[in-house]
Amino acid sequence: MADKQAQLDAIAEDIQKDGVTPELVASATQLVLGDGNPDADVVFIGEAPGKNEDLQGKPFVGASGKFLNEMLEMIGMQRSDVYITNIVKYRPPDNRDPKPEEKKAFLPYLQRQLEVIQPKVVVTLGRHSMNCFLPDLQISKVHGQPKRVTLSLKKNSTDTLEVVILPLFHPAAALYNPQQRQVLIDDFAAIPIILEKLDK
Ligand code: URA
Repeated sequence: MADKQAQLDAIAEDIQKDGVTPELVASATQLVLGDGNPDADVVFIGEAPGKNEDLQGKPFVGASGKFLNEMLEMIGMQRSDVYITNIVKYRPPDNRDPKPEEKKAFLPYLQRQLEVIQPKVVVTLGRHSMNCFLPDLQISKVHGQPKRVTLSLKKNSTDTLEVVILPLFHPAAALYNPQQRQVLIDDFAAIPIILEKLDK
């Protein structure tokens, strides 16, 4: 079995070979698969790359990313300790919300990323990301509350992954709103507590 980074690279190649979301490909600079430690216990999932991410080929490198890095530091972690990705791997034009069919098109590749990394905790950033895994919940009601779930990783397969999903608000929503900012910082503090409990 190839090492984890090689398996992630193969997912990036397949996305390009399979011609996923040709409309987004036409306007994007490049694919943004993910960044960080392929052996991480914690995976963060945002919505889609923005302008800076599109230019640099890495997720969360703009203003939201800076805030994400700060929050990681607050809980004693660094980007190199975690893996960061998005549901949609190409920048939607004009930073519009990803369309349902775009999210659906990338879901099998996101599931493959999780299958390779085998995280213990999946932190969803924003409602789009949360609704990929917890479709019936409202983020305003459940943010900061860890949910134990069994994810099906492949169609017509019994492959599953037991993870804790921690739904958080998107950092962009909290950037210019001090109240939301504090809520997100407080919710973020649950991450080391969840990891410690899982290790027992
Ligand atoms: N917002 C996201 O959801 N993802 C990024 O990579 C950057 C901003």
